[in-house]
Amino acid sequence: MNQRKIIIDCDPGQDDAVMLLMALACPDEFDILGITTVAGNVPLDLTQRNARIMCELAGRTDVQVFAGCDKPMRHELITAENVHGKTGIDGVTVYPPTMPLQDQHAVDFIIETLLGSENDSITLVPTGPLTNIGQAMARQPDILPRIKEIVLMGGAMREGGNTTPSAEFNILEDPDAAQIVMQCERPLTIVPLDVTHQALVSQKRIEQIRALDTPVGAAVVGMMEFFNRFDSDKYGSDGAPLHDPCTIAYLLEPELFEGKMCNVEIETGSPLTRGHTAVDFWGVTDKVRNANWLYKLDADGFFALLIDRLKS
Ligand code: RIB
Ligand code: CA
Repeated sequence: MNQRKIIIDCDPGQDDAVMLLMALACPDEFDILGITTVAGNVPLDLTQRNARIMCELAGRTDVQVFAGCDKPMRHELITAENVHGKTGIDGVTVYPPTMPLQDQHAVDFIIETLLGSENDSITLVPTGPLTNIGQAMARQPDILPRIKEIVLMGGAMREGGNTTPSAEFNILEDPDAAQIVMQCERPLTIVPLDVTHQALVSQKRIEQIRALDTPVGAAVVGMMEFFNRFDSDKYGSDGAPLHDPCTIAYLLEPELFEGKMCNVEIETGSPLTRGHTAVDFWGVTDKVRNANWLYKLDADGFFALLIDRLKS
């Protein structure tokens, strides 16, 4: 099987952490060139630490972890400790990891790695605010032809915003970076709340993960039980939406999803609707259809895939 070269950019956060454990469990499918971290759910010093803890838990200290931008391109940082806890990964034991953080800045790593690669060779998988990706594209447009595709978690249309009435957290955090990505003219798939809100970590699914009876399974259960408490109340649902692992699931089994090519643009000016993803779902304009907007998920298939990979 030929591996897909990927760079994961994330802000762990429990759902990013589960995404990392899923990706790190797929060495045959993914050649993870690096994990870059960004400020988002919690500040950068915690997201980079949390990413390294997940690599150690997965036994994958061979993967390099980089720290990137500690705030959005223009706005002040918004964090979400109310959702993720003070550590960002409440629900697992947090400790100072022994694997090193790379000295190189994440944006420099992204630029250097892409410039040194063939065209259409590297997949970017952002699951946090898009600051690192937007900065890399703005600083060095020559990286764009090297990007095979981008599969990002962010945005919302039918589901409405989860952080303001108009906006989902990742896009709200750095709308300017998100707009740069929307305009990059590379193959782009967006995994929005419209999809991730179908991926609910129900108690039944938690019990299936607990039954793995492994350290990784126990860590995921602990994080999910913590992660569930906020969103279950907020949405009145049986479990919280498991956002970020949907990106990895899409790369592994795209047939679990349905999407359509749409024009997607980002509101960057209005204080009221900052970070809104304006999706031309019904083609009412003749604007370029720049993104594959996912809107349907086979949730049982997704969790079967997740549990199968966590088992390995
Ligand atoms: O809105 C959900 C997204 O924001 C997820 O990626 C979560 O980890 C937070 O970053
Ligand atoms: Ca995230």
